[in-house]
Amino acid sequence: MAATIAAALAVLPLASGLELPNEVGKLPALGWNSWNAYYCDINQEKILQAANSMIDRGFKDAGYTYINSDDCWSRMDGRDPETHELRPNMTKFPDGIKGTADEIHDMGFKFGIYSSAGTMTCGRYPASLGYEAIDAATFASWGVDYLKYDNCFPPEYWYDDCLSCEVDPSFSPTGIVNGSCTNSTPPVNHYSYDRPIPFCALEWPVDGVNYTAKYTALRFRIMEEALLAQNRTILYSLCEWGVDQPWRWGNQTGSSWRISNDIAFGDTSWPRIVEIINMNSFLSPFADFYGHNDADMLTIGNGNLTSAEVRTHFGLWALMKSPILIGTVVANLTEEEVSVLQNKMLLSFHQDPVFGKPAAPYKWGANPDWTFNNTIPAQYWSGASSNGTMVAMFNPFNETRSMEVDFSEVPQLDGKASYEVVNVWDGSNMGSCEGSVQMDVEAHDTAIVLFTES
Ligand code: GAL
Repeated sequence: MAATIAAALAVLPLASGLELPNEVGKLPALGWNSWNAYYCDINQEKILQAANSMIDRGFKDAGYTYINSDDCWSRMDGRDPETHELRPNMTKFPDGIKGTADEIHDMGFKFGIYSSAGTMTCGRYPASLGYEAIDAATFASWGVDYLKYDNCFPPEYWYDDCLSCEVDPSFSPTGIVNGSCTNSTPPVNHYSYDRPIPFCALEWPVDGVNYTAKYTALRFRIMEEALLAQNRTILYSLCEWGVDQPWRWGNQTGSSWRISNDIAFGDTSWPRIVEIINMNSFLSPFADFYGHNDADMLTIGNGNLTSAEVRTHFGLWALMKSPILIGTVVANLTEEEVSVLQNKMLLSFHQDPVFGKPAAPYKWGANPDWTFNNTIPAQYWSGASSNGTMVAMFNPFNETRSMEVDFSEVPQLDGKASYEVVNVWDGSNMGSCEGSVQMDVEAHDTAIVLFTES
């Protein structure tokens, strides 16, 4: 089994991301998004308040850059009948989206907005399929810097022949999905799309499915083209929930791609956080500079996460180099949550200008390596950075466990007998350690340590 997996990994693509001007999208985004805080109940005031709080509570200084409105910002009753442009809901946004974006820019942030590659957004507002060029131009004229593009309500003529590719329960590192899908009939639509679809012979098809050629990928590429045609650089964040393996085509299409469904519908997000960690533990080979696995927006500050769960959520999102978008009412965050979200060592790993690859599991732990397990995912992770080697030990169990980093198992450590070790959570120096480091890790917590040469 392990040999087959190693062989499969050997042919994984080298990530080749969408390079935008001024290095936009090179590093995973840092910012705030309205959805997990307010769902559809948004307005200009709440978004500006969020931006103000991001300044007051030190997030802007810590490097958080984007303030993004999610769904439900527009008029529900449709586009402008003459110009076919989307129209902001002026009751919610008295200064329009342009006015709101201007204020956000004046505060020194970038501004993001949301639409969907279908006929309606998930909240049933008008969406962009068929109007990509118009919408991209509208967004650019409003000063939008970031587009989150969702996957709700594609019409039937955009469906691929295979509608139900299910994830195989014995998930493998290549993310192979069972089911054979063919794209025999072209979609009936009014687009002419003549840009060649990138094709990688080593990578495709996977179990008979050419995800790159699927209509889903095409719908997202049409918006990519429209954004690239604007005289403004707009980071393109794909929100396709992982259904058509966007890690296989997202790199050529956008700066990041959601790898799975929403992190939270309400207050209980811990089980989803663990599921997402499990899912993403297989996907690090697809990410690098300019192309990031999006584990979804944070839920820290909402509901009932314990301190240990908050550390795991943020710590692993930072190590996986997911976009990090805070999704709560920032003014209400506790001091402890703020200090986790502004952990300097983790943010500098996440934003490392020299090392683009995210951390990856070097050992699963309780389970054999490469086990897909939604409650006990990979526990031992490591990654290289300009500051040294980061190693994380995640304890998904309900009681404290003693966990150990054995230096000889960590691929980034080069066999030296001893290393200087720093505890990333409290910054304490653990001194020069030989051979291994052992720590007690609380239930649901993640110990993270930084190794440098002695
Ligand atoms: C979902 C998406 C969420 C949020 C929501 C808006 O599809 O995954 O992150 O954007 O739509 O309706």
